[in-house]
Amino acid sequence: MPSRQVSARMTVTRLSIASAPTPAGLCAVWSVSVCPLNEMQATALLTAAEHVQAAKFRSARDRARFVTTRGATRMIVATHLGVRAADVAFSHNRYGALGVAWPRAPVQISVAHSGALGLIAIADGRRIGVDVELIRGNLPSRQIASRWFHPFEQDRLSRYPPSQYDAYFLRHWVAKEAYTKGLGLGLHKRLSEFAVDVPPSSPARVVCDEAGGADAWELHLFDAAPGYIGAVAHESAQPATGERGMSRAASKGRR
Ligand SMILES: CC(C)(COP(=O)(O)OP(=O)(O)OC[C@H]1O[C@@H](n2cnc3c(N)ncnc32)[C@H](O)[C@@H]1OP(=O)(O)O)[C@@H](O)C(=O)NCCC(=O)NCCS
Repeated sequence: MPSRQVSARMTVTRLSIASAPTPAGLCAVWSVSVCPLNEMQATALLTAAEHVQAAKFRSARDRARFVTTRGATRMIVATHLGVRAADVAFSHNRYGALGVAWPRAPVQISVAHSGALGLIAIADGRRIGVDVELIRGNLPSRQIASRWFHPFEQDRLSRYPPSQYDAYFLRHWVAKEAYTKGLGLGLHKRLSEFAVDVPPSSPARVVCDEAGGADAWELHLFDAAPGYIGAVAHESAQPATGERGMSRAASKGRR
């Protein structure tokens, strides 16, 4: 796995997210380990407002994840855009999605954290969303799936034996969350409104979305680190066909 040093002592690792190499500049996913050294380095990269935000976390673990991932995100964006880290400013959309406010560039980012890992996804000119989960047992997976998942996904999950259910539930979960984050909606998007397919041995995809546009997205699941499952959803590089590329209004108007 290629690794790249982005500051004096803070190391981030570029992850392999697809079987075929992603076209240069299209998108990349980086991981950062949430450890005391990285947290210390990252702390120096935060703005005053981010320090205030960090101080609000009750749990030291949550604070460390936020600080480390936010510092790494600033370094990665600065390196990508060729500016000083201190010059990078972030903003949030009305649903909480993180964006680059300065420098002005068509760059899109998404971040996620779980356990002792942070992920940062970056793409030029297309929306991107990332999610990661520490693989663990004893999840209320059946209750969540039956209450919130699309019937297509419930059907797929019902085919797995109990011993594999939680693992496949987590594959669905990270894929669904990555897609909702790519849309910039997060959990403001109804999870039963769209379906993902995340088979173990063939490419993942967004199968359908009541809001339209599912076929304009690519979905990749990957091992983010030992014991972690990650997913990234990004808009395709290819021009959309059919309904792809049309605005919703245009699409509606055509019907
Ligand atoms: C996006 C969301 C699903 C993140 O879930 P999570 O598993 O707790 O946290 P993750 O580590 O995966 O992701 C956190 C990052 O998501 C990003 N994020 C937050 N809202 C987002 C949105 N609407 N779209 C895209 N990204 C979003 C943030 O950058 C955040 O990291 P930061 O605060 O360090 O910048 C969630 O925050 C959300 O949608 N919230 C709105 C709905 C809500 O609050 N529901 C109550 C819980 S059911």
